[in-house]
Amino acid sequence: MTADLYCVMGNPVEHSRSPWIHARFAQLTGQDVHYGKRLVPLGGFQQAVRDFRAEGGRGCNVTVPFKFEAAPLATQLTARAALAGACNTLRFDGAGILADNTDGVGLANDIAHNAGIDIGGRDVLLIGAGGAASGVLGPLLEARPRRIVVANRTCAKAGLLAERHGALAARNGVRLEAPELRDLRDAFDVVINATTTSLSGAAVPVPAAVLKPGALACDMMYGPAAQGFLAWASRHGAVARDGLGMLVEQAAEAFFVWRGVRPPSAQVLAELRTTLQ
Ligand code: ATR
Repeated sequence: MTADLYCVMGNPVEHSRSPWIHARFAQLTGQDVHYGKRLVPLGGFQQAVRDFRAEGGRGCNVTVPFKFEAAPLATQLTARAALAGACNTLRFDGAGILADNTDGVGLANDIAHNAGIDIGGRDVLLIGAGGAASGVLGPLLEARPRRIVVANRTCAKAGLLAERHGALAARNGVRLEAPELRDLRDAFDVVINATTTSLSGAAVPVPAAVLKPGALACDMMYGPAAQGFLAWASRHGAVARDGLGMLVEQAAEAFFVWRGVRPPSAQVLAELRTTLQ
């Protein structure tokens, strides 16, 4: 019997850790899966998906810059992907394609299970209103914090993001706000950086006073790209957390979508940290 084929499609994709993570998930759960990576030319995403299906692929992850191009291919779009406006997971179901987004659940599960913080009833600050922020807001609301404030350099974008999630916030009893940065005065239990400021070496666009003493401060990136934010958070008394756990947890959720089996993600995260040291 040959293994079921999966891959990650992106550009660039060379440094993706997903093949390693999914290979470990497959080993540890006894699933017969092969997971590769495909460098997809810009403008070539839809063709790449068609080609992979024709080769017998069962599904794929989608990463930068194609996350916004996946939904039009879907015959079924999950509610969380529709709300996020982006997809990172496709599952090929016979004639159809399920498009999903596991990023937000990945972040929420990393905070809950790996960092050990229950955000229920807490105050959360989400910095940024681009694709990364949009991918995680829904699952953060579903964890039922007391309040989520979305803060972005361009306030209007934060306003639109909050508006789109208004009904979900109300259903979960969460206060959802998007104030101007200059009006941001409170301190938060959990602060999540979903901007690209660390990447570009730009300053974190909120004052350090947003961090309660001992707050959890997460960047959605890992490795050198996260260092600016993590150093800022540690310097100001927060517990700094990079995005490696989110990476493993979004992969675990994708693995579950494909295989119906939950892999031991905490173990794989610990192993991945060791290999990266
Ligand atoms: P991604 O898909 O990774 O979220 P994006 O959609 O380009 O990328 O969003 C980048 C985010 O980082 C945005 O929230 C952006 O703020 P604006 O909406 O005001 O552009 C934020 N960002 C990028 N550079 C920034 C900087 N120098 N200062 C503050 N915010 C910045």
